[in-house]
Amino acid sequence: MRRNSLTLVPLLLLALFATLSASGTDFEIISPKEKALYTDAFASVSVKLDYKKVTKLEVYHEGNLTRAFNTGSSRDFYCSSVRLHLGNNHIVVKAYDGNVSLGEKRVDLYYSSEVFEDFYEEPYGYKKRFFHDEKSESVCVKCHDMDRNFNKLDKKTLKAKGAATADIEILENPQESSCYTCHNNLVSRKNGHSPSVNFACVACHTGEAGENNLDEDRRSRYIQPDPIASRCFMCHERLKEIVSHNNSDHGPAKSGRCNKCHNPHSSDNLFFLRKPIWELCTTCHSEKITERHVITSFVFRRNKNGHPTRKRPDPSRPGRELVCSSCHNPHGSKGPFLLRTDQPTPFSVCKRCHDK
Ligand code: HEC
Ligand code: HEC
Ligand code: HEC
Ligand code: HEC
Ligand code: HEC
Ligand code: HEC
Ligand code: HEC
Ligand code: HEC
Repeated sequence: MRRNSLTLVPLLLLALFATLSASGTDFEIISPKEKALYTDAFASVSVKLDYKKVTKLEVYHEGNLTRAFNTGSSRDFYCSSVRLHLGNNHIVVKAYDGNVSLGEKRVDLYYSSEVFEDFYEEPYGYKKRFFHDEKSESVCVKCHDMDRNFNKLDKKTLKAKGAATADIEILENPQESSCYTCHNNLVSRKNGHSPSVNFACVACHTGEAGENNLDEDRRSRYIQPDPIASRCFMCHERLKEIVSHNNSDHGPAKSGRCNKCHNPHSSDNLFFLRKPIWELCTTCHSEKITERHVITSFVFRRNKNGHPTRKRPDPSRPGRELVCSSCHNPHGSKGPFLLRTDQPTPFSVCKRCHDK
């Protein structure tokens, strides 16, 4: 079948016209950058526009309207924070003059995680696109303070209990931090990590890279070292002891990449974990997903299937459920197999919960 080529001509012209008008300078997405890779759930959308032409601006995430602005005053910049989901994300910005569309622009992003199998690796072409260099920031300084104003504000000392041994300096009023306007979503989840909630961001975002990201050194003035452990140990000295001096090591902790399991900003889960504990452990140890753990001695006994690993109260930790970390310390142990015992035999761990 041969198509009548004459009917195609007007269609082609129409397509050409649409492309031309949409690529005009009426409006432009300044951030996020195209094919940027994210490791946390928030993207900052900022749009520069010609206020003489645009009267309305709409921001869409996956086709859903997330924010609308009536523009048209003399303001030429509009901003909105968008919450991402794991994987590919499409953000579209549409502009109007009255009811007439001035076209739309789109950016594609990828939010990856090392503990969600399907989103472990970003597709080809996506990578970290750093924002905090002089050139990018210069567009925002007209309206936003982009400096670390931490040292200029009133501070108080946080008496860290338990885990943290060092006293840390935090802001009297975190909302005064120059990071607050653009990044406060990072701490909006149920459990906030103290230095992040208090906007002591530069405790980790020192501007210096680590041995795993040396190629990123100075690409952002707020970069953090990878591995991050040296920053964590600054306040969690006890963890340094556990990770460094033991008889069984755990790869992910030993390598200093604490952020594999913990979200350094905030999380809906206990201990700011990226997943609830049992799900977290079985992501990498998928053979343990049976909920029954075949501990060696069980094979010869009545309970051939092994020991339960969840859905029971944990007798050793009132108020908590039995999980993998009831028996194993995810950071390291003086005993074997990361067990919560300092004795050399695995069965010494049983005493934590059973009398005999
Ligand atoms: C013309 C002034 C102006 C410029 C230029 C500007 N902003 Fe904003 N921005 C604002 C105002 C005002 C707010 C306060 C909240 C609002 O109106 O949504 C804001 C808020 C934000 C927010 C928070 C939005 C939310 O939903 O919580 C982000 C993120 C942001 N700006 C990013 C940027 C970035 C990135 C740049 C530079 C590329 C930039 N802005 C440039 C005026 C500006
Ligand atoms: C005007 C808005 C704005 C302000 C103010 C701001 N940021 Fe950002 N920041 C961004 C944008 C935009 C990105 C790119 C990622 C995104 O979409 O949010 C970013 C990314 C980052 C990153 C990832 C590395 C990079 O350079 O892309 C870090 C770390 C960071 N910001 C820390 C900070 C800290 C610390 C402060 C306060 C001293 C701060 N930011 C203030 C807009 C802002
Ligand atoms: C305890 C250390 C720590 C603190 C405190 C901290 N961060 Fe981070 N941040 C990290 C690490 C580690 C990463 C690397 C990526 C990851 O693990 O998500 C990161 C990543 C980021 C990113 C990039 C997220 C993305 O989607 O790619 C931004 C933006 C950011 N931090 C901003 C901030 C701001 C703003 C504060 C203060 C409110 C802050 N951070 C406090 C450790 C920290
Ligand atoms: C600037 C100091 C500081 C840094 C750096 C820091 N933390 Fe914390 N962290 C705290 C404070 C303070 C608490 C609140 C609990 C306390 O007082 O012990 C806390 C709590 C925690 C908790 C919950 C502890 C509990 O018992 O509920 C976890 C998990 C944690 N931090 C992990 C980390 C990780 C992982 C890093 C590095 C990416 C890190 N922290 C870096 C100060 C810090
Ligand atoms: C394999 C995942 C994993 C890694 C990697 C990891 N953690 Fe944890 N972390 C956990 C889990 C799970 C818990 C909760 C344990 C429990 O049930 O009490 C926890 C609890 C904590 C706590 C609070 C309770 C305690 O034991 O003091 C701190 C602080 C902490 N982690 C810091 C760190 C630091 C610092 C690193 C990097 C050296 C790190 N974690 C690496 C999984 C991990
Ligand atoms: C990011 C992947 C990852 C996560 C998440 C993870 N592990 Fe592991 N785990 C490993 C790897 C890799 C090894 C192999 C040995 C090594 O490198 O330490 C291991 C080994 C172990 C071992 C055997 C140690 C030995 O001495 O033989 C135990 C026990 C263990 N993990 C328990 C856990 C528990 C409990 C959790 C949840 C708190 C967990 N793991 C979460 C990757 C992970
Ligand atoms: C009731 C205590 C207990 C619980 C709960 C438990 N384990 Fe274990 N685990 C042990 C003991 C004891 C060993 C020592 C080896 C043996 O006897 O089989 C062990 C060994 C391991 C090993 C190394 C040897 C092997 O079998 O691969 C891994 C990995 C492991 N556990 C992961 C997990 C994960 C993941 C969970 C949660 C799904 C979990 N464990 C829950 C007690 C426990
Ligand atoms: C962190 C606490 C804890 C530790 C450590 C622990 N158990 Fe258990 N154990 C439990 C709980 C909870 C149950 C379930 C009780 C119930 O169903 O009411 C259980 C059940 C059992 C049962 C009955 C089996 C069944 O199917 O109900 C046996 C046998 C047992 N444990 C042996 C062991 C041995 C052997 C060890 C050491 C390798 C051990 N336990 C370590 C908490 C623990």
